[in-house]
Amino acid sequence: MSIETISVYFSEKSVYPKMLNQNQTPLIDALKACKTRPHAPFYTPGHKRGAGISPLLTDLLGKDVFLADLTELAELDNLFKPENAILAAQELAAEAFGAEKTWFLVNGSTCGIEAAILATCRMGEKIILPRNVHSSVISGLILSGAIPIFIQPEYDEDLDIAHSITPEAVKAALAKHPDAKAVLTVYPTYYGVCGDLQAFVNLTHQYNIPLLVDEAHGAHFHFHPELPTSALVAGADLTVQSIHKTLGAMTQASMLHIQGNRIDIDRVNKALQLVQSTSPSFILLASLDAARQQMAINGEKLMFETLQLAEIARSQINQIPGLSTPLAKREKSPGFIDLDKTRLTINVSKLGLTGFAAEEILNQMGVTPEFSSLQHLIFIISLGNTKEDINALIHGVKSLTQIPQLTSQYNICKYRNDDKIDYISCLSPREAFFAESEILPLEKTQERICAEIICPYPPGIPVLMPGEIITQSALEYLQQIQTMGGFITGCADTSLRTLKVVKV
Ligand SMILES: Cc1ncc(COP(=O)(O)O)c(C=O)c1O
Repeated sequence: MSIETISVYFSEKSVYPKMLNQNQTPLIDALKACKTRPHAPFYTPGHKRGAGISPLLTDLLGKDVFLADLTELAELDNLFKPENAILAAQELAAEAFGAEKTWFLVNGSTCGIEAAILATCRMGEKIILPRNVHSSVISGLILSGAIPIFIQPEYDEDLDIAHSITPEAVKAALAKHPDAKAVLTVYPTYYGVCGDLQAFVNLTHQYNIPLLVDEAHGAHFHFHPELPTSALVAGADLTVQSIHKTLGAMTQASMLHIQGNRIDIDRVNKALQLVQSTSPSFILLASLDAARQQMAINGEKLMFETLQLAEIARSQINQIPGLSTPLAKREKSPGFIDLDKTRLTINVSKLGLTGFAAEEILNQMGVTPEFSSLQHLIFIISLGNTKEDINALIHGVKSLTQIPQLTSQYNICKYRNDDKIDYISCLSPREAFFAESEILPLEKTQERICAEIICPYPPGIPVLMPGEIITQSALEYLQQIQTMGGFITGCADTSLRTLKVVKV
């Protein structure tokens, strides 16, 4: 199949039956009405519908956007007590994404994940979760004081990629910790890998506790049958989706969905008030309304086209000597039962290049991946990509193979955090985060308790987190990432010359 022959696909009947009129856009309509109503504004924001904005910003963004940058006016509803436009928009979203109730989020999935943990686990209560969680989960642990029972995800030694946790591991963790208050999983991983969510649902429900899902990268799953099953269809109790990551909402715009009776709605409301601004951006909220309407009306067609673009990219890249897209060909296993085919992972190690170096070269050619790791480049192909983007991607990665000096292989030190940390007998992430700490030169921190989140970003999966014992292999791995061009965040000294540890 070539890009030129890409076909347009219209579904005769939509995948899910609709009761509401999904063409409606209550938030956009309310914002439009406010934007055009002549009045003298004596409320925040201070720029007063753009009149006070610096010309530097109007040069960049135009004037119109500031007319819509409004606050919680009576006609615009209140995010924390929605009764009008926000409530109607959330109800439409719940139906479109297959939830019983949906909350709009303006602080990204980060705040949704924090709220999910705060709403299910009190101080000292246990939560079962994979070690390869995003740093927002660690923030949730610090805020709540919950005790993590970490499960090691299935690890792909050849690719140096952590996949999902397995049903067997979840079963064992639940049997050992029947008093856990929730299980949380990441679905899909940053690489698009999906674990056996249905099995996790069955296991957690046997203990009558909720399954919480970090579905930050899976907001599009619900809209095409060839994509992995969405968390809600699999039976998850709560899921958080970054609508801005794979669909058409603006950066930071996310949703939290629930179904069933294992989640206390009141606790979610209270938790969201702790972690969100009291001045939510209506531009972000309206972008959620628009993204939902777009997907409800056209989602299946848009996802069909996106999948086709991804397939063209994958098949052409696989024909380029020295490059491969290893996840698409990988055999299924308990920690890898499905793959989001719109996520493209390219292995560049046979070119004698790190993913970081390849990203730099591609950037110069006008092709920007989502992120790179030691061996891989990761691309998000979404509804916003065009045939021209895919051509540029194929041309760009082909050029990587023609760089003459890149012939030698390189050695990488792999790192898998499989230290058996028993958080029940040592400091919890919260205790370590708030403990008295000291700053030591890196070489003196081995075997000390880490007091900060130390995290290559992206993908934002901490190598060390508060409460963990600092090992030599973790230090070597972090140093290698930095030497090879990766970016470390979370710690006070991102040069990694020093680290913050708990004072003894
Ligand atoms: C797996 C995962 N979960 C959660 C988040 C946080 O999402 P957001 O950027 O919407 O706050 C990210 C962000 O990259 C992520 O990769």
